This record gives sequence, C-alpha cells and structure tokens, in this order.
Amino acid sequence: MPYKYQSRTHYVLDGILSGWNNCAKLVVSPEAPNQAPFQCIERTMTSTIPTFSYHNPTAIEFGWGSLARLPELVKSVGGTRALVVGDPGVVKAGLVERVVGVLGGMPVTIFTDIESDPDARSVDAGVELAKSKECDVMIGVGGGSAMDVAKVIGVMMTNPGNIRDYAGMGKIGKPGVPVIAIPTTSGTGSELTIWSVLSEKEKKQKFGVGSVLNCARIALLDPELTMSLPPAITAATGIDALTHALESYVSTATQPISEAMSVQSMTLIARSLRLAVAQPGNKQARSDMLLASTLAAMAFNSTRLGLVHAYAMPLGSRFHIPHGLANAIMLPVVMRYNLPGNLVKFARIAEIFGEPIAGLSLRDAAERSVVAIESLKADVGITAKLGEFGITEADLDAVAGEAMLSGNVAVNPRQPTLETMKALLRAEL
Ligand SMILES: NC(=O)c1ccc[n+]([C@@H]2O[C@H](COP(=O)([O-])OP(=O)(O)OC[C@H]3O[C@@H](n4cnc5c(N)ncnc54)[C@H](O)[C@@H]3O)[C@@H](O)[C@H]2O)c1
Ligand SMILES: [Fe+2]
Repeated sequence: MPYKYQSRTHYVLDGILSGWNNCAKLVVSPEAPNQAPFQCIERTMTSTIPTFSYHNPTAIEFGWGSLARLPELVKSVGGTRALVVGDPGVVKAGLVERVVGVLGGMPVTIFTDIESDPDARSVDAGVELAKSKECDVMIGVGGGSAMDVAKVIGVMMTNPGNIRDYAGMGKIGKPGVPVIAIPTTSGTGSELTIWSVLSEKEKKQKFGVGSVLNCARIALLDPELTMSLPPAITAATGIDALTHALESYVSTATQPISEAMSVQSMTLIARSLRLAVAQPGNKQARSDMLLASTLAAMAFNSTRLGLVHAYAMPLGSRFHIPHGLANAIMLPVVMRYNLPGNLVKFARIAEIFGEPIAGLSLRDAAERSVVAIESLKADVGITAKLGEFGITEADLDAVAGEAMLSGNVAVNPRQPTLETMKALLRAEL
C-alpha cells in the first residue's frame, strides 16, 4: 500500500547522551547466568534520559507505481521547467525516458553526462545547463551517483562560487532550487541524506558535501524502478544499505530514532536481500530493499558511520572499487574487530539475521553476527578481495592513512591505531 512519511521537525531531547549507548540491560536467566541474552536483551529507558538531535527535512512518497505521481509532486514544489539528471546506465535501462514521459508536456532538459563516482566537473556542466534553460526543479533519477549530482546542482543554482568550495559539513548558505530524488538502486539512501559524494579524479580524491540544505525536498520511492537492477549491483548496493544501518546502530553517536530505523532496515535486509538477488523479479523483495535503504539513510543521517565507510572513500577514489563492493569487502573484518566495542548490539544483529544464539555466551553470540554477514555475502555472490583491484602491501599506508582522517572513525565503537587500520586492510588483500 502506498504511504507517506514526513517529518520536518528537528527533535532535540535533553538528558545524558553518554548514558544512551551503554543502557542496554541484559536480563539473564538464573538457570544459565552466562548465556547470551537471546530474546532477553532489553533497553532500559528509565535509568537514563537520552540527549540527541534528529532531523529529516525530506518528504517521502513510497508506493509501487508511484512514479505516476511525479507531475503533482513537481507542481507541489512550484516546478515549471525541470532538469532531469540521470546517468548512461539509467538511460539504457529506459528509466530517464519513463520519467520524461510521465512529465507530459512540461519543458524538460535532460542531463546524463555523469559517471559512477561522479566527478565535480559533472556538477559544473549540469549547473551551466540548468541555468541556461532556467530550470526551477531538479529531478535526480538513478543510484547515488545521479542523485548526488542532482542535489548539488540544485544547491549551486542559488549559491555562489563552485561546488568544491562547499566540501565538508555545513558550508551551504542558502536553500537551493527544489530537488525530487527518485532512487533506482537500493543502497546509498542519497534521496534522504544530507550528503553528496563527489570525486576529483585527477587528484584521486573524493569529497563529501554535507548540509541539511543538500537534502532533496521529496524522495519519490517507486520499487518498480529497481526491477531492472542487475544481480551484482543489487548485491553490492544492498550491502551498502546494510552497512549504513549496521554502522549507525553500533556507532557511539547513535540515538533512539536512528536505532529504530537501523533495526527495521536490517530486518528487511535479512528477509529480502538474498531474494532480490536470486529472483530479480520478486516485487516484495525489491520493495523491502528500497524501504530498507531509505530507513538506513534515516538512521545514519544523524549519527555518521564507522570504519567501513572510512575505508570506502580511499578505496573508491584511488582504486575505483564501486562503493557498495568496497563496503562489502571490509564489513566482516571490521565487524570482527569492533565486537568488543558493543557485544550486546552485535549479538542483537546476529539475532536479526536469524543466527541461533540461544545458549551461547554473549561473546560467542556477538561473533555469530560476523558469520551471518559472511554467509549473506556468499549467498549474494560477493567474493571480491582488495588485491583484485591492484591493491598491494605498498598501498596500505596511504589507504589506511586517508581512512584515519574520516569523521567516521571518531564514532566507531572501537578506536584503531594506524597499524590496526593497515592490518584490517591486509586481511582482505
Ligand atoms: N549521498 C550519500 O549519502 C551517499 C552514500 C553512500 C554512497 N554515495 C555515493 O553514491 C555513489 C554510488 O551510488 P550507487 O551505489 O547507487 O551506484 P551508481 O549510482 O553509481 O549506480 C551503479 C550503476 O547502476 C546503474 N543503475 C542504477 N539503477 C539502475 C536500474 N534500476 N537498472 C539498471 N541499472 C541501474 C547505474 O546507471 C550505474 O551504472 C558513489 O559515488 C558513492 O560515493 C552517496
Ligand atoms: Fe555507503
């Protein structure tokens, strides 16, 4: 059934933030005091009052066939001349044509000169085109690459200078023109996030532009548009969504709303990622995965991520490993390293993924979460290693060093040294 979600409220609760992350309480059976808290993990909300901020300014429209509603949504944001932003892959899949078709007689300009891991130069070209055609609404259709570019073209229509000036967090001064984001992969959650990730390919660098002013006005989620996604991309982007939900969940910056989103997202992924890969035409699985990726974005938008995403930036910019695949390679090894940082939550992840943890010690139950993700990876056909992308021992200093600079490291549940960061990469060569 189609449904709508909207929250323009910025929630702030006062209390003791540091208490929240540690407030899981184990209710241990008197007969088996050392056993894992299977069905016994309880969150105590009475002994600590959390402090947190949560902000989601994007309206969500979800439903099978909901693309048909695009004209009314464009009208609702005052759009009269659209820039439709896609990439060659979504053009080939017929998705740009479908979007333009739905818009009927509205003046439309198409911009699809975007590659995966888009270069900042694409933004420059898109802004020039949109200004020359006086576009007043951006419609991003595609995966993270197309949506990320559409969002920052919208921003640069009203803000001065160059998109490179806005690298980092909170640098955008003025709201841009409205953006409607239409995801066709179930991974990045760019339709909801504050982030656009861009490359400077000559410098072999990636940078993020993060701001609440970089959020789409509307996320139009039609799972039918993900049906043409090939199994390998379904698998990699699905693991990206999982990594968002999981890293946000165990992050030291997590908070109650994000936790709820993470748990629901992982539950849907546990149910449907294998199916979406094995049966690309399975509508329920496609719907679950699109919803899961959006929920995961709603989780991490307010918490940041962890070491897996810290690694993903240099692995993408230096070695062109697709984002989801980079995450999939590093996720199990990082999870195993992170276990001591939050045994209770890793045990809960094992439980979500259907691992039999009853009767295990808490440490063993937590370990089962890694086993669960390794078996999920195998079932969706991801076997890649870093070495296949030309990475050798000689690269580890540079990759680990760059990863250490990521803002995601500070909220990871365990604090690594540079040597540890290198060792985790080495394990996946
Ligand atoms: N904004 C964020 O918060 C955020 C978060 C994580 C990653 N990212 C960025 O997003 C980008 C990756 O996005 P992605 O993983 O969605 O991949 P992508 O957008 O690069 O798409 C991968 C490929 O799939 C094709 N494709 C997309 N939808 C299709 C469909 N329905 N049918 C057939 N082909 C289809 C695309 O044309 C492309 O060739 C990276 O640049 C990454 O850094 C952004
Ligand atoms: Fe990601």
